[in-house]
Amino acid sequence: MLKGKTVILGVTGSIAAYKIANLASMLVKLHCDVHVIMTRNAMNFIHPITFETLTNNRCLVDTFDRNFQYNVEHVALAKKADLVLVAPATANVIAKLTYGLADDMLTTTVLACTCKKIVAPAMNTRMYQNKIVQDNLRKLEMNDFEVIAPATGMLACQDVGEGKLPDAEVLLDYVLKEIAHEKDMEGMNVLVTAGPTQEAVDPVRYITNHSTGKMGYAVARACMLRGAKVTLVTGQTSVGKPPFVEVIQIESAREMFEAVCSRYEQQQLIIKAAAVADYRPQFVSEEKVKKSGEKLVLELERTDDILKFLGEHKKRGQFLCGFSMETENMLENSRGKLHKKNLDMIIANNLKEDGAGFGTDTNVVTIITEKKEIPLSIMSKEDAANCILDEIMVEIRGKQNGYC
Ligand SMILES: Cc1cc2nc3c(=O)[nH]c(=O)nc-3n(C[C@H](O)[C@H](O)[C@H](O)COP(=O)(O)O)c2cc1C
Repeated sequence: MLKGKTVILGVTGSIAAYKIANLASMLVKLHCDVHVIMTRNAMNFIHPITFETLTNNRCLVDTFDRNFQYNVEHVALAKKADLVLVAPATANVIAKLTYGLADDMLTTTVLACTCKKIVAPAMNTRMYQNKIVQDNLRKLEMNDFEVIAPATGMLACQDVGEGKLPDAEVLLDYVLKEIAHEKDMEGMNVLVTAGPTQEAVDPVRYITNHSTGKMGYAVARACMLRGAKVTLVTGQTSVGKPPFVEVIQIESAREMFEAVCSRYEQQQLIIKAAAVADYRPQFVSEEKVKKSGEKLVLELERTDDILKFLGEHKKRGQFLCGFSMETENMLENSRGKLHKKNLDMIIANNLKEDGAGFGTDTNVVTIITEKKEIPLSIMSKEDAANCILDEIMVEIRGKQNGYC
């Protein structure tokens, strides 16, 4: 995911420095070239050898160390970097960065960086809330630094409040958002639906399906990583919410319909990966339905057909992609749905195929448009999402250039 990318991690003298070992390891596993620069004081909290072992690169501390690979290491590294993340950032280093001080290897290198710069402050709540620190952070933002808000919780000094360094997973998300993918969807508004709907029978029970939302969430995340502004309308799932995405939580098909209807007009791309119930109980009992007799008959009525609505109300330049899950005649049924609902693309998957369907981490899909039919082999849902988006972008560019 980060092959060919170079990240500088700046580690400063905070108790939270240990968390960066985990982050460095995660980045290396994604094939990123990671260079750690520590302040002298950071070495009181974690040893450079930890980072050197994890990253396979020399951990830099001293600007005047003459055993460098390059003559002017801080400049060479600054030129090479795709992103620099100072985490944890002490109040001291934040102040130095604010005023352009360059009295150690870290601050000198950051000053020479023209790439994306992020700082993640970590300190005691009283220090963090100090007006001087807050002013400095604002000034950094004005000078194109992104500041990651610290988490709230119990701090190392046992105080409870804001100032905690967010977990390595959260820091990783910030890095991925910037450099994990080419930003070919920059500025696009994208609406994704995902997960199952729940149709109430009574206050205790509902009718649903086996959708876990994994495919839709993978699509939403991939759109975000490609630079799109993403709204995710989702049914109940246990999948972690994708970061930097607006998440609208719904329960029923009716709620999903309303959430989509109130947002679809502003979208350039709509991808409907949700498994929406086709029918719901006609009457929802206000009280729990009690056991009586051998049989219980539920009268069902049709829900709103969201995809059909979107196809009928498609805006100029809007691209509409649906998903179809079939157990028989997959291609034929999916093509029928493409035409009937005025879609630009449909992603067909066969529930009975190994590695496809609900709950799995993989999928086997066929991308269908008016003119194309592209069967993809088994792959992770993340990779499938990106293949689908690649094809969507080809189609959108083609329509914009008028040759599709
Ligand atoms: C145990 C301990 C924990 C510390 N944790 C923090 C911290 O989380 N944030 C902070 O700004 N300073 C913290 N400090 C104070 C910094 O280490 C001190 O300001 C130091 O000068 C920072 O140096 P540096 O910014 O060059 O790394 C801590 C100090 C000690 C002794």
